[in-house]
Amino acid sequence: MRQREQWSSRLGFILAAAGSAIGLGAIWKFPYTAGQNGGGAFFLIFILFTLILGLPLLLAEFSIGRTAQDNAVNSYKKIAPGTKWYWLGITGMITSFILLSFYSVIGGWIIIYLIKALAGDLNGLTSEEYGNVFGATISDPIVSILVQFLFILLTIIVVAKGVQKGIERASAIMMPALFILFIVLVIRAVTLEGSLEGIRFLLQPDFSKVTSKTILEAMGQSFFTLSVGVSVMVTYSSYLPKNQSLPRSAISIVGMNIFIVLLAGLAIFPAVFSFDLEPGAGPVLLFNVLPTIFSQLPFGMWFFIAFLLLFLFAALTSAFSMLEIIVSVISNGAPTKRRQWAWLTGIAIFIAGVPSALSYGVLSDVTLFNKTIFDLADYSVSNVLLPLGALLISIFVPLKMKKTQLYDELKQGSGFKKGLFETWFFLIRFVAPVLILAVMFDVLGVW
Ligand code: PFF
Repeated sequence: MRQREQWSSRLGFILAAAGSAIGLGAIWKFPYTAGQNGGGAFFLIFILFTLILGLPLLLAEFSIGRTAQDNAVNSYKKIAPGTKWYWLGITGMITSFILLSFYSVIGGWIIIYLIKALAGDLNGLTSEEYGNVFGATISDPIVSILVQFLFILLTIIVVAKGVQKGIERASAIMMPALFILFIVLVIRAVTLEGSLEGIRFLLQPDFSKVTSKTILEAMGQSFFTLSVGVSVMVTYSSYLPKNQSLPRSAISIVGMNIFIVLLAGLAIFPAVFSFDLEPGAGPVLLFNVLPTIFSQLPFGMWFFIAFLLLFLFAALTSAFSMLEIIVSVISNGAPTKRRQWAWLTGIAIFIAGVPSALSYGVLSDVTLFNKTIFDLADYSVSNVLLPLGALLISIFVPLKMKKTQLYDELKQGSGFKKGLFETWFFLIRFVAPVLILAVMFDVLGVW
């Protein structure tokens, strides 16, 4: 039998899985969604969902992947032969396809700022001018499509070459550097005049602002940031050797994610309030606020450029995982075709993403259910497809995998105590499906 590729170390796996998790979700999506949903209460519900649902589901995906040691579709076929459960993998591929189609638009926005900052076009503007320059740029059809293409091109090049090498090593330096820069940013933001209101906005929950929509979006946000519900983590953990601890990996990924979400919130909201910007500005929020905070730092533009590079890297490592899950399924059995498939799939995603890229310009008036094409793609992935994938995974695991087999898988390479295992199993078997369904029904107004 052909030897499957494996991560070169546990650290390699954690870095790649954390690379998939940490990306635009925590840094771009969290601030704007929290901003639209009243701040503190959203943040708190997000943390609760991450711990009660996200962490157990991440562990569930890890168990599926390492048990089956195969791609997102074959893993389900191996564990539940002769059933239709492999559709869960196919749904994951479709979700990933749509996800990357709009994710690349935001990846492109980072590239726009990078080019502008390097060209010196951003020096000495006021916060309003930053917003205007940015708004004008993303509404330009040629520019927005071009940068989206560049982002996808970088993703294709890496995935075509194969998953591990290089990404692992680069992550080991880039991720800690991103954390450090974020801490600098937070220090600057919280010491701005008038920042206290922003800190309160994030950390002081106001439950009167909570609606069914807030709860659904907090749940979607927690799945989005952990890359859960797509079977991406099934794919990544299938490359992991048996002697590594899955629970420890899951906990460190969740911990890092919560930390970066907190840093993003503490960098953005104090600045939003201090500069008198609108927290509910939507997807452009981060991009309107960032240059203004950096402009308040000595050597601000250099810090900004470094930040953008690290941010781009974080977004790319997430994008790799989206393309990887699709390519690993369709190039299965013909590994020499991997390169062609990566290109073909990547180009198809780019084409599908063009209407999203144009949503901030020529197609801004085209709406469905009151949402632009970009918003619709973002909303349907975060609040429909991810919860659906997560729901099905929480049904699949207790139904199709033996409890003893799961325990054996999870305790390999770790001292996973029986009591903790039982708690995890309870959360997956009962809490996850009931809670996800309740939140989804609630939004539909069923009760
Ligand atoms: N977790 C990524 C982020 O927060 O940017 C987004 C993501 C990647 C979601 C891969 C789902 C996925 F399968």
